[in-house]
Amino acid sequence: MSKIKTSFFCQNCGAQSTKWIGRCPSCGQWNTYVEELIQKDSDDKLWHGNNSIIQSKPKLINEINIDETPRIDTYNIELNRVLGGGLVPGSVILVGGEPGIGKSTLMLQIALNLKNKKILYISGEESELQIKMRAERLGKVKSNCYILTETQTQNIFQHIDSINPDILIIDSIQTLNSNNIESSAGSVSQIKECTTELLRFAKETSVPVFLIGHITKDGSIAGPKILEHIVDTVLHFEGDQNHIYRILRANKNRYGSTSEIGIYEMHNNGLAEVNNPSEMLIPQREEQLSGTAISATVEGIRPILIEVQALVTSATYGTPQRSSTGFDLRRLGMLLAVLEKRCGFRLGIKDIFLNIAGGLKVDDPAIDLAVISAILSSGEDISINSKICFAAEVGLSGEIRPVNRIDQRISEAEKLGFEKICISRYNIKGIMKKSFKIELVEIRKIEELYKYLFT
Ligand code: TYD
Ligand code: MG
Repeated sequence: MSKIKTSFFCQNCGAQSTKWIGRCPSCGQWNTYVEELIQKDSDDKLWHGNNSIIQSKPKLINEINIDETPRIDTYNIELNRVLGGGLVPGSVILVGGEPGIGKSTLMLQIALNLKNKKILYISGEESELQIKMRAERLGKVKSNCYILTETQTQNIFQHIDSINPDILIIDSIQTLNSNNIESSAGSVSQIKECTTELLRFAKETSVPVFLIGHITKDGSIAGPKILEHIVDTVLHFEGDQNHIYRILRANKNRYGSTSEIGIYEMHNNGLAEVNNPSEMLIPQREEQLSGTAISATVEGIRPILIEVQALVTSATYGTPQRSSTGFDLRRLGMLLAVLEKRCGFRLGIKDIFLNIAGGLKVDDPAIDLAVISAILSSGEDISINSKICFAAEVGLSGEIRPVNRIDQRISEAEKLGFEKICISRYNIKGIMKKSFKIELVEIRKIEELYKYLFT
């Protein structure tokens, strides 16, 4: 009989310790250690496949043939793009995101769309009936997709043996538990164990496996974070639940670039792919309003035109408010300081609200110029011509700095019918000016921008 063993695990980062510790030495969090049973029973089999016989042998790298394993088309352009051109056989993909963001919907939709492939969708969270109802809502019930509600990995492998699926989807990794380990489902050691079993299965059979994993904002559930180094690809499904836009981002990808993103819209009948995001994110309004400016940003490697809205009002209470949605508040503070110092704008007595349209979060520094323009426009109460857009970073001394992928930004603006784009003077060099019809407005300093827009 094997002895019962326990160990302490940090629920935040998965670090292990033989005794309880108040503060995790690896991630610095307090009070995250929990005792978990870890009893390995060597008689019980894991995924057994060809486990006992060692079949692989060293190969010369030249002899390994890549053509043998073509990528699988998921029939979802956005997902294909994020995966780097399709699904790689035998890869393990973690799809993480906050609860309720639409992970199950996305995965089920992909499962139902895949033609000529046998898919096994294993759910530990919803009943078969619930999944069927969701599938009907998505409008596609004719498909080669099997549904299984099961949480025990050993049972799952038995079903896999009899069905022989081409693709496996697990919803979610937190609900699985393995017989080999005695701690409860969702604990660090269970999650690690179940993923390792699935990983071995994927590598031995070349069946791609999607794992859905929940993360909360504060990362309090033991989960996806600790798996990131085990799996091949980590995708993040993010967005604001009050808005319809969802972004699928690759945080790690062993088979492609991590700079691609996929954009979806959540509708009543599932997620729709958005292939032309800019057209949706810039408003088609008749009258011109003050306080709005369009920025030519790049998300990953995709150019997206997006509207920035600002509201500048006199502060009614002692401390003026600064509030921002979709844009870093500290960065906003910095830009305001620059405006105050360089343009003599007395913002210390104003409330300032900033909003990026569509509920998107933008990290691209090229949005700075649009933010400043929107604030100036609201402050002056003069609208900016709706045919102008902006793409440049703003430095601490008020200088307008160059940004990357400027050609892409300019062409996207031109494609969407803009007549002028304000860019940094120092960005002009590498650009083939003649190849664009759109007017390039070169700006060096904030003062110049102010003069250009409002005088
Ligand atoms: P869900 O996929 O269950 O989220 P997760 O698996 O990430 O927890 O979907 C969550 C939300 O999506 C739910 O609040 C309802 C909404 N939804 C739609 O708006 N349209 C739809 O067609 C579906 C299926 C869900
Ligand atoms: Mg779900």
